[in-house]
Amino acid sequence: MDRIRIVGGRPLSGTIPISGAKNATLPLMIASLLTEETLVLDNVPRLADVGLLQRILGNHGVDVMVSGKRSGETADHGQTLHISAAHIVDTTAPYDLVSKMRASFWVIAPLIARMGEARVSMPGGCAIGTRPVDLLIMAIERLGAKIDIEGGYVIAQAPKGLRGGEIVFPKVTVGGTHTAIMAASLANGTTVIENAAREPEIVDVADCLNKMGARISGAGTSRVIIEGVAKLGGARHSVLPDRIETGTYAMAVAMAGGDVLLQNARPELLQAALDVLQGAGATMVSNNQGIRIARNGSALAPVEVTTAPFPAFPTDLQAQLMALMTRARGTSHIVETIFENRFMHVQELARLGARIQLDGEKATIEGVERLKGAPVMATDLRASVSLVIAALAAEGETIVNRVYHLDRGFERLEDKLSRCGAAIERLAG
Ligand code: EPZ
Repeated sequence: MDRIRIVGGRPLSGTIPISGAKNATLPLMIASLLTEETLVLDNVPRLADVGLLQRILGNHGVDVMVSGKRSGETADHGQTLHISAAHIVDTTAPYDLVSKMRASFWVIAPLIARMGEARVSMPGGCAIGTRPVDLLIMAIERLGAKIDIEGGYVIAQAPKGLRGGEIVFPKVTVGGTHTAIMAASLANGTTVIENAAREPEIVDVADCLNKMGARISGAGTSRVIIEGVAKLGGARHSVLPDRIETGTYAMAVAMAGGDVLLQNARPELLQAALDVLQGAGATMVSNNQGIRIARNGSALAPVEVTTAPFPAFPTDLQAQLMALMTRARGTSHIVETIFENRFMHVQELARLGARIQLDGEKATIEGVERLKGAPVMATDLRASVSLVIAALAAEGETIVNRVYHLDRGFERLEDKLSRCGAAIERLAG
Protein backbone atom coordinates (compact mmCIF):
# COMPACT_ATOMS: atom_id res chain seq x y z
CA MET A 1 0.00 0.00 0.00
CA ASP A 2 1.25 3.45 -0.91
CA ARG A 3 2.45 5.76 1.87
CA ILE A 4 3.33 9.43 1.88
CA ARG A 5 6.55 10.79 3.37
CA ILE A 6 6.67 14.41 4.55
CA VAL A 7 9.50 16.39 6.12
CA GLY A 8 7.99 19.42 7.80
CA GLY A 9 9.13 22.97 8.36
CA ARG A 10 9.02 24.46 4.85
CA PRO A 11 6.77 27.43 3.98
CA LEU A 12 4.61 27.13 0.86
CA SER A 13 4.65 29.57 -2.06
CA GLY A 14 3.27 29.46 -5.58
CA THR A 15 0.00 28.40 -7.18
CA ILE A 16 -2.29 25.44 -6.48
CA PRO A 17 -4.96 24.72 -9.13
CA ILE A 18 -8.25 23.72 -7.47
CA SER A 19 -9.94 20.76 -9.15
CA GLY A 20 -13.62 20.15 -9.81
CA ALA A 21 -15.66 19.18 -6.75
CA LYS A 22 -15.86 15.47 -5.87
CA ASN A 23 -19.19 16.00 -4.11
CA ALA A 24 -20.71 17.61 -7.19
CA THR A 25 -19.15 15.22 -9.71
CA LEU A 26 -20.64 12.09 -8.09
CA PRO A 27 -24.31 13.24 -8.13
CA LEU A 28 -23.84 14.81 -11.59
CA MET A 29 -22.59 11.50 -13.01
CA ILE A 30 -25.54 9.73 -11.32
CA ALA A 31 -27.95 12.26 -12.87
CA SER A 32 -26.93 10.96 -16.31
CA LEU A 33 -29.17 7.93 -15.59
CA LEU A 34 -32.19 10.26 -15.89
CA THR A 35 -31.81 10.68 -19.68
CA GLU A 36 -31.28 8.61 -22.82
CA GLU A 37 -29.17 11.40 -24.26
CA THR A 38 -25.52 12.18 -23.58
CA LEU A 39 -24.44 14.28 -20.61
CA VAL A 40 -21.05 15.92 -21.06
CA LEU A 41 -19.25 16.92 -17.86
CA ASP A 42 -16.19 19.19 -17.95
CA ASN A 43 -13.71 19.91 -15.12
CA VAL A 44 -14.10 16.39 -13.68
CA PRO A 45 -11.36 15.52 -11.12
CA ARG A 46 -9.25 12.37 -11.54
CA LEU A 47 -10.18 10.62 -8.29
CA ALA A 48 -10.57 7.01 -7.17
CA ASP A 49 -14.24 7.65 -6.34
CA VAL A 50 -14.90 8.93 -9.88
CA GLY A 51 -13.32 5.81 -11.36
CA LEU A 52 -15.36 3.57 -9.07
CA LEU A 53 -18.60 5.35 -9.99
CA GLN A 54 -17.79 4.84 -13.67
CA ARG A 55 -17.74 1.10 -12.93
CA ILE A 56 -21.00 1.28 -10.96
CA LEU A 57 -22.75 3.15 -13.80
CA GLY A 58 -21.26 0.72 -16.32
CA ASN A 59 -23.01 -2.07 -14.43
CA HIS A 60 -26.33 -0.43 -15.30
CA GLY A 61 -25.36 -0.20 -18.97
CA VAL A 62 -23.93 3.34 -19.02
CA ASP A 63 -21.14 4.19 -21.46
CA VAL A 64 -18.54 6.68 -20.27
CA MET A 65 -16.09 8.14 -22.78
CA VAL A 66 -13.20 10.23 -21.50
CA SER A 67 -12.02 12.91 -23.92
CA GLY A 68 -8.37 12.78 -24.88
CA LYS A 69 -5.97 15.63 -24.07
CA ARG A 70 -6.53 18.81 -26.07
CA SER A 71 -3.64 21.00 -27.26
CA GLY A 72 -2.43 23.33 -24.54
CA GLU A 73 -4.01 21.27 -21.79
CA THR A 74 -1.93 20.21 -18.76
CA ALA A 75 -2.58 17.79 -15.91
CA ASP A 76 -4.13 20.77 -14.10
CA HIS A 77 -7.08 20.67 -16.49
CA GLY A 78 -10.00 18.55 -15.35
CA GLN A 79 -11.12 15.70 -17.56
CA THR A 80 -14.22 15.69 -19.78
CA LEU A 81 -16.63 12.77 -19.52
CA HIS A 82 -19.24 11.93 -22.17
CA ILE A 83 -21.81 9.86 -20.30
CA SER A 84 -24.56 7.98 -22.14
CA ALA A 85 -27.29 6.05 -20.36
CA ALA A 86 -29.20 5.37 -23.59
CA HIS A 87 -29.97 1.81 -22.50
CA ILE A 88 -30.31 0.88 -18.83
CA VAL A 89 -29.95 -2.90 -18.90
CA ASP A 90 -29.82 -3.59 -15.17
CA THR A 91 -31.60 -1.74 -12.33
CA THR A 92 -29.66 -3.51 -9.57
CA ALA A 93 -26.75 -1.81 -7.76
CA PRO A 94 -24.87 -4.69 -6.13
CA TYR A 95 -23.46 -4.78 -2.59
CA ASP A 96 -19.86 -5.34 -3.68
CA LEU A 97 -19.92 -1.97 -5.51
CA VAL A 98 -22.24 0.15 -3.31
CA SER A 99 -20.40 -0.89 -0.14
CA LYS A 100 -17.24 0.69 -1.59
CA MET A 101 -18.81 4.14 -1.99
CA ARG A 102 -21.94 5.27 -0.09
CA ALA A 103 -22.95 7.95 -2.58
CA SER A 104 -23.62 5.24 -5.16
CA PHE A 105 -26.81 4.47 -3.20
CA TRP A 106 -28.18 7.66 -4.79
CA VAL A 107 -28.64 5.78 -8.12
CA ILE A 108 -31.94 4.65 -6.60
CA ALA A 109 -33.46 8.04 -7.51
CA PRO A 110 -32.89 8.15 -11.31
CA LEU A 111 -33.51 4.38 -11.64
CA ILE A 112 -36.91 4.48 -9.93
CA ALA A 113 -37.84 7.75 -11.67
CA ARG A 114 -36.93 6.63 -15.21
CA MET A 115 -37.33 2.83 -15.08
CA GLY A 116 -40.06 2.51 -12.40
CA GLU A 117 -37.92 0.02 -10.48
CA ALA A 118 -34.64 -0.17 -8.60
CA ARG A 119 -32.87 -2.74 -6.41
CA VAL A 120 -30.05 -1.05 -4.55
CA SER A 121 -27.83 -2.46 -1.84
CA MET A 122 -27.85 -0.68 1.53
CA PRO A 123 -24.42 1.01 1.83
CA GLY A 124 -23.43 -0.61 5.16
CA GLY A 125 -21.26 0.92 7.92
CA CYS A 126 -18.87 3.90 7.70
CA ALA A 127 -15.87 5.02 9.76
CA ILE A 128 -17.33 8.45 10.53
CA GLY A 129 -20.82 7.45 11.68
CA THR A 130 -23.83 5.16 11.32
CA ARG A 131 -25.04 7.13 8.27
CA PRO A 132 -28.47 5.55 7.70
CA VAL A 133 -30.40 6.10 4.42
CA ASP A 134 -33.88 6.23 6.00
CA LEU A 135 -34.48 9.82 4.82
CA LEU A 136 -33.53 9.00 1.22
CA ILE A 137 -36.01 6.12 1.30
CA MET A 138 -38.63 8.39 2.89
CA ALA A 139 -38.18 10.88 0.05
CA ILE A 140 -38.92 8.42 -2.77
CA GLU A 141 -41.75 6.87 -0.77
CA ARG A 142 -43.28 10.38 -0.56
CA LEU A 143 -43.21 10.39 -4.38
CA GLY A 144 -45.24 7.20 -4.52
CA ALA A 145 -42.60 4.45 -4.68
CA LYS A 146 -43.41 1.16 -2.94
CA ILE A 147 -40.42 0.13 -0.82
CA ASP A 148 -39.33 -3.29 0.45
CA ILE A 149 -36.11 -4.13 2.26
CA GLU A 150 -34.87 -7.64 1.48
CA GLY A 151 -31.51 -9.32 1.90
CA GLY A 152 -29.74 -6.01 2.51
CA TYR A 153 -31.31 -4.47 -0.60
CA VAL A 154 -33.82 -1.66 -0.95
CA ILE A 155 -36.37 -2.69 -3.58
CA ALA A 156 -38.28 0.28 -4.95
CA GLN A 157 -41.18 0.00 -7.37
CA ALA A 158 -43.32 2.56 -9.18
CA PRO A 159 -44.60 0.84 -12.33
CA LYS A 160 -46.79 3.82 -13.21
CA GLY A 161 -43.99 6.28 -12.48
CA LEU A 162 -43.53 8.67 -9.55
CA ARG A 163 -45.94 11.48 -8.66
CA GLY A 164 -45.18 14.90 -7.19
CA GLY A 165 -45.57 15.38 -3.44
CA GLU A 166 -44.35 17.16 -0.33
CA ILE A 167 -41.08 16.08 1.29
CA VAL A 168 -40.21 17.54 4.69
CA PHE A 169 -36.76 16.50 5.93
CA PRO A 170 -36.61 16.32 9.76
CA LYS A 171 -32.89 17.10 9.48
CA VAL A 172 -30.78 18.58 6.68
CA THR A 173 -29.41 15.83 4.46
CA VAL A 174 -27.30 16.41 1.33
CA GLY A 175 -27.87 12.92 -0.05
CA GLY A 176 -31.58 13.12 0.72
CA THR A 177 -31.90 16.42 -1.13
CA HIS A 178 -30.01 15.12 -4.20
CA THR A 179 -32.20 12.00 -4.20
CA ALA A 180 -35.44 13.97 -3.87
CA ILE A 181 -34.52 16.48 -6.60
CA MET A 182 -33.43 13.81 -9.10
CA ALA A 183 -36.51 11.62 -8.48
CA ALA A 184 -38.95 14.54 -8.60
CA SER A 185 -37.52 15.82 -11.91
CA LEU A 186 -39.35 13.04 -13.81
CA ALA A 187 -42.35 12.70 -11.48
CA ASN A 188 -45.87 13.48 -12.58
CA GLY A 189 -46.75 16.80 -10.91
CA THR A 190 -45.06 19.25 -8.57
CA THR A 191 -42.84 18.40 -5.60
CA VAL A 192 -42.01 20.73 -2.73
CA ILE A 193 -38.99 19.94 -0.54
CA GLU A 194 -38.86 21.62 2.89
CA ASN A 195 -35.68 21.88 5.00
CA ALA A 196 -33.58 20.99 1.98
CA ALA A 197 -29.77 21.04 2.09
CA ARG A 198 -28.36 24.31 0.70
CA GLU A 199 -24.86 23.13 -0.21
CA PRO A 200 -23.29 24.60 -3.40
CA GLU A 201 -23.13 21.08 -4.85
CA ILE A 202 -26.95 20.89 -4.67
CA VAL A 203 -27.13 24.10 -6.72
CA ASP A 204 -24.60 22.77 -9.25
CA VAL A 205 -26.64 19.59 -9.81
CA ALA A 206 -29.90 21.55 -10.07
CA ASP A 207 -28.29 23.90 -12.63
CA CYS A 208 -27.20 20.93 -14.72
CA LEU A 209 -30.64 19.25 -14.47
CA ASN A 210 -32.30 22.50 -15.59
CA LYS A 211 -29.97 22.50 -18.62
CA MET A 212 -31.27 18.96 -19.29
CA GLY A 213 -34.83 20.33 -19.30
CA ALA A 214 -35.86 19.96 -15.65
CA ARG A 215 -37.90 22.65 -13.86
CA ILE A 216 -36.23 23.18 -10.51
CA SER A 217 -36.43 26.42 -8.55
CA GLY A 218 -35.13 27.40 -5.14
CA ALA A 219 -32.00 25.20 -5.11
CA GLY A 220 -29.60 26.65 -2.56
CA THR A 221 -32.49 27.62 -0.29
CA SER A 222 -34.25 25.36 2.22
CA ARG A 223 -37.40 25.22 0.05
CA VAL A 224 -37.00 23.65 -3.38
CA ILE A 225 -39.83 23.28 -5.92
CA ILE A 226 -39.67 20.81 -8.81
CA GLU A 227 -42.24 20.61 -11.57
CA GLY A 228 -41.85 17.14 -13.01
CA VAL A 229 -41.33 16.70 -16.76
CA ALA A 230 -41.94 13.63 -18.95
CA LYS A 231 -38.40 13.45 -20.35
CA LEU A 232 -34.94 14.96 -19.84
CA GLY A 233 -32.39 15.64 -22.58
CA GLY A 234 -28.63 15.85 -22.80
CA ALA A 235 -26.49 18.83 -21.77
CA ARG A 236 -22.94 20.05 -21.22
CA HIS A 237 -21.95 21.20 -17.75
CA SER A 238 -18.74 22.21 -16.01
CA VAL A 239 -18.28 20.97 -12.43
CA LEU A 240 -17.84 23.78 -9.85
CA PRO A 241 -14.50 24.09 -8.01
CA ASP A 242 -14.00 21.93 -4.91
CA ARG A 243 -14.60 24.08 -1.81
CA ILE A 244 -13.29 21.36 0.52
CA GLU A 245 -10.05 21.04 -1.47
CA THR A 246 -9.84 24.87 -1.39
CA GLY A 247 -10.28 24.98 2.40
CA THR A 248 -7.80 22.14 2.87
CA TYR A 249 -4.98 23.90 0.99
CA ALA A 250 -5.83 27.22 2.66
CA MET A 251 -5.29 25.50 6.02
CA ALA A 252 -2.08 23.89 4.78
CA VAL A 253 -0.71 27.36 3.94
CA ALA A 254 -1.86 28.75 7.30
CA MET A 255 -0.10 25.80 9.00
CA ALA A 256 3.20 25.84 7.12
CA GLY A 257 3.32 29.59 6.53
CA GLY A 258 3.85 31.15 3.13
CA ASP A 259 1.84 32.71 0.32
CA VAL A 260 -0.15 30.71 -2.24
CA LEU A 261 -2.74 31.42 -4.94
CA LEU A 262 -5.59 28.87 -4.91
CA GLN A 263 -6.41 29.05 -8.59
CA ASN A 264 -10.11 28.78 -9.67
CA ALA A 265 -11.24 28.88 -6.01
CA ARG A 266 -14.47 30.80 -5.28
CA PRO A 267 -14.70 32.42 -1.81
CA GLU A 268 -18.52 32.39 -1.67
CA LEU A 269 -18.45 28.57 -1.66
CA LEU A 270 -16.68 28.44 1.73
CA GLN A 271 -17.04 31.87 3.33
CA ALA A 272 -17.58 30.46 6.85
CA ALA A 273 -14.26 28.58 6.69
CA LEU A 274 -12.42 31.59 5.27
CA ASP A 275 -13.79 33.76 8.10
CA VAL A 276 -12.45 31.26 10.66
CA LEU A 277 -9.05 31.23 8.95
CA GLN A 278 -8.89 35.03 8.94
CA GLY A 279 -9.75 34.99 12.66
CA ALA A 280 -6.90 32.52 13.20
CA GLY A 281 -4.42 34.93 11.64
CA ALA A 282 -4.21 34.13 7.92
CA THR A 283 -4.66 36.88 5.35
CA MET A 284 -6.51 36.40 2.07
CA VAL A 285 -7.34 38.32 -1.08
CA SER A 286 -9.87 37.11 -3.67
CA ASN A 287 -9.78 38.07 -7.32
CA ASN A 288 -10.88 36.58 -10.64
CA GLN A 289 -7.95 34.14 -10.55
CA GLY A 290 -8.94 32.67 -7.19
CA ILE A 291 -8.02 33.17 -3.55
CA ARG A 292 -4.54 34.23 -2.42
CA ILE A 293 -3.85 33.02 1.09
CA ALA A 294 -0.85 33.89 3.25
CA ARG A 295 0.52 33.69 6.77
CA ASN A 296 3.96 35.06 7.40
CA GLY A 297 5.27 35.05 10.93
CA SER A 298 2.06 35.97 12.74
CA ALA A 299 1.05 33.49 15.44
CA LEU A 300 -2.05 31.34 14.98
CA ALA A 301 -4.96 32.42 17.21
CA PRO A 302 -7.33 29.80 18.75
CA VAL A 303 -10.89 29.47 17.45
CA GLU A 304 -14.37 28.37 18.59
CA VAL A 305 -16.12 26.46 15.80
CA THR A 306 -19.23 24.28 15.45
CA THR A 307 -19.80 22.31 12.27
CA ALA A 308 -23.25 22.55 10.67
CA PRO A 309 -24.94 22.39 7.24
CA PHE A 310 -24.09 25.06 4.62
CA PRO A 311 -23.59 28.01 4.89
CA ALA A 312 -22.06 27.22 8.29
CA PHE A 313 -18.61 25.66 8.84
CA PRO A 314 -18.45 22.35 6.92
CA THR A 315 -17.86 19.05 8.70
CA ASP A 316 -15.55 18.07 5.79
CA LEU A 317 -13.04 20.72 6.99
CA GLN A 318 -13.28 19.88 10.70
CA ALA A 319 -10.26 17.54 10.83
CA GLN A 320 -8.12 19.94 8.81
CA LEU A 321 -8.99 22.84 11.17
CA MET A 322 -8.21 20.67 14.19
CA ALA A 323 -4.75 19.94 12.79
CA LEU A 324 -4.17 23.68 12.31
CA MET A 325 -5.27 24.50 15.85
CA THR A 326 -2.72 22.09 17.35
CA ARG A 327 -0.21 24.91 16.76
CA ALA A 328 -2.37 27.85 17.88
CA ARG A 329 -1.31 30.11 20.71
CA GLY A 330 -4.06 29.08 23.16
CA THR A 331 -7.00 26.69 23.48
CA SER A 332 -9.59 26.05 20.75
CA HIS A 333 -12.93 24.25 20.83
CA ILE A 334 -14.46 22.39 17.89
CA VAL A 335 -17.94 20.85 18.10
CA GLU A 336 -18.87 18.24 15.47
CA THR A 337 -22.67 18.12 15.02
CA ILE A 338 -23.05 16.23 11.70
CA PHE A 339 -21.32 12.86 12.22
CA GLU A 340 -21.12 11.11 15.57
CA ASN A 341 -17.73 9.45 15.03
CA ARG A 342 -15.64 12.00 13.14
CA PHE A 343 -12.70 12.32 15.53
CA MET A 344 -10.64 9.35 14.30
CA HIS A 345 -7.73 11.75 13.54
CA VAL A 346 -7.38 12.82 17.20
CA GLN A 347 -5.24 9.88 18.33
CA GLU A 348 -3.11 10.10 15.19
CA LEU A 349 -2.49 13.84 15.74
CA ALA A 350 -1.56 13.00 19.33
CA ARG A 351 1.21 10.79 17.92
CA LEU A 352 2.74 14.00 16.48
CA GLY A 353 2.57 15.64 19.91
CA ALA A 354 -0.84 17.34 19.74
CA ARG A 355 -2.87 17.91 22.94
CA ILE A 356 -6.56 17.22 22.29
CA GLN A 357 -9.28 16.28 24.78
CA LEU A 358 -12.59 14.81 23.63
CA ASP A 359 -15.89 15.14 25.44
CA GLY A 360 -18.71 13.70 23.34
CA GLU A 361 -19.08 15.88 20.23
CA LYS A 362 -16.71 18.52 21.60
CA ALA A 363 -12.94 18.62 21.12
CA THR A 364 -10.64 20.88 23.16
CA ILE A 365 -7.33 21.59 21.41
CA GLU A 366 -4.53 23.07 23.49
CA GLY A 367 -1.97 24.61 21.14
CA VAL A 368 1.63 23.36 21.44
CA GLU A 369 4.98 25.01 20.56
CA ARG A 370 6.08 22.20 18.29
CA LEU A 371 4.94 18.98 16.64
CA LYS A 372 7.33 16.16 15.91
CA GLY A 373 7.17 13.80 12.93
CA ALA A 374 6.09 10.12 13.42
CA PRO A 375 4.43 7.28 11.48
CA VAL A 376 0.63 7.78 11.44
CA MET A 377 -2.42 5.97 10.02
CA ALA A 378 -5.08 7.43 7.72
CA THR A 379 -8.62 6.32 8.70
CA ASP A 380 -10.91 8.22 6.33
CA LEU A 381 -10.67 10.79 3.55
CA ARG A 382 -10.66 14.06 5.54
CA ALA A 383 -8.86 12.65 8.60
CA SER A 384 -6.00 11.53 6.34
CA VAL A 385 -5.40 15.01 4.91
CA SER A 386 -5.43 16.53 8.42
CA LEU A 387 -2.38 14.36 9.13
CA VAL A 388 -0.68 15.75 6.04
CA ILE A 389 -1.40 19.32 7.23
CA ALA A 390 0.05 18.60 10.69
CA ALA A 391 3.11 16.93 9.15
CA LEU A 392 3.87 20.06 7.08
CA ALA A 393 4.61 21.87 10.35
CA ALA A 394 6.09 18.96 12.31
CA GLU A 395 9.83 18.69 12.87
CA GLY A 396 11.41 15.82 11.02
CA GLU A 397 9.81 13.02 9.04
CA THR A 398 6.21 11.82 9.08
CA ILE A 399 5.01 8.72 7.22
CA VAL A 400 1.27 8.64 6.47
CA ASN A 401 0.03 5.08 5.93
CA ARG A 402 -3.06 3.90 3.97
CA VAL A 403 -3.13 6.88 1.65
CA TYR A 404 -5.76 5.20 -0.54
CA HIS A 405 -8.16 7.18 1.64
CA LEU A 406 -6.62 10.39 0.30
CA ASP A 407 -6.83 9.29 -3.34
CA ARG A 408 -10.58 9.04 -3.02
CA GLY A 409 -10.95 12.81 -2.78
CA PHE A 410 -7.69 14.68 -3.46
CA GLU A 411 -6.26 14.85 -6.98
CA ARG A 412 -2.40 14.76 -7.18
CA LEU A 413 -1.99 16.07 -3.62
CA GLU A 414 1.79 15.46 -3.39
CA ASP A 415 2.36 17.11 -6.78
CA LYS A 416 0.29 20.19 -5.88
CA LEU A 417 2.09 20.65 -2.53
CA SER A 418 5.63 19.86 -3.72
CA ARG A 419 5.27 22.44 -6.52
CA CYS A 420 4.82 24.98 -3.72
CA GLY A 421 7.96 23.87 -1.89
CA ALA A 422 6.71 21.13 0.46
CA ALA A 423 9.04 18.18 1.09
CA ILE A 424 6.45 15.51 0.28
CA GLU A 425 6.65 12.35 -1.78
CA ARG A 426 4.67 9.15 -2.35
CA LEU A 427 6.33 5.88 -1.43
CA ALA A 428 4.78 3.24 -3.69
CA GLY A 429 3.68 -0.24 -2.48
C1 EPZ B 1 -22.57 14.35 1.99
O1 EPZ B 1 -22.79 13.08 2.62
C2 EPZ B 1 -21.10 14.37 1.58
N1 EPZ B 1 -20.84 13.28 0.66
C3 EPZ B 1 -20.22 14.22 2.82
O2 EPZ B 1 -18.86 14.34 2.42
C4 EPZ B 1 -20.52 15.36 3.78
O3 EPZ B 1 -19.79 15.18 4.95
C5 EPZ B 1 -22.03 15.36 4.11
O4 EPZ B 1 -22.81 15.43 2.91
C6 EPZ B 1 -22.41 16.54 4.99
O5 EPZ B 1 -22.05 17.74 4.41
C7 EPZ B 1 -21.05 13.49 -0.67
O6 EPZ B 1 -21.51 14.52 -1.12
C8 EPZ B 1 -20.70 12.36 -1.59
P1 EPZ B 1 -25.96 13.87 4.87
P2 EPZ B 1 -24.27 12.56 2.96
O7 EPZ B 1 -27.05 13.04 4.32
O8 EPZ B 1 -25.19 13.03 1.91
C9 EPZ B 1 -27.87 11.80 8.74
C10 EPZ B 1 -16.61 13.70 2.20
O9 EPZ B 1 -15.69 13.71 3.04
N2 EPZ B 1 -28.76 11.09 7.82
O10 EPZ B 1 -26.04 15.34 4.68
O11 EPZ B 1 -24.17 11.11 3.23
C11 EPZ B 1 -26.40 11.38 8.59
O12 EPZ B 1 -26.11 10.23 9.30
C12 EPZ B 1 -18.01 13.19 2.59
O13 EPZ B 1 -16.47 14.09 1.03
C13 EPZ B 1 -29.78 10.33 8.36
O14 EPZ B 1 -29.94 10.23 9.58
O15 EPZ B 1 -24.55 13.34 4.33
C14 EPZ B 1 -25.67 12.62 9.11
O16 EPZ B 1 -25.61 12.56 10.50
C15 EPZ B 1 -18.05 12.57 3.95
N3 EPZ B 1 -30.59 9.65 7.51
C16 EPZ B 1 -26.57 13.76 8.66
O17 EPZ B 1 -27.86 13.19 8.40
C17 EPZ B 1 -30.45 9.72 6.14
O18 EPZ B 1 -31.22 9.08 5.41
C18 EPZ B 1 -26.10 14.49 7.41
O19 EPZ B 1 -25.81 13.53 6.43
C19 EPZ B 1 -29.42 10.52 5.61
C20 EPZ B 1 -28.57 11.21 6.47
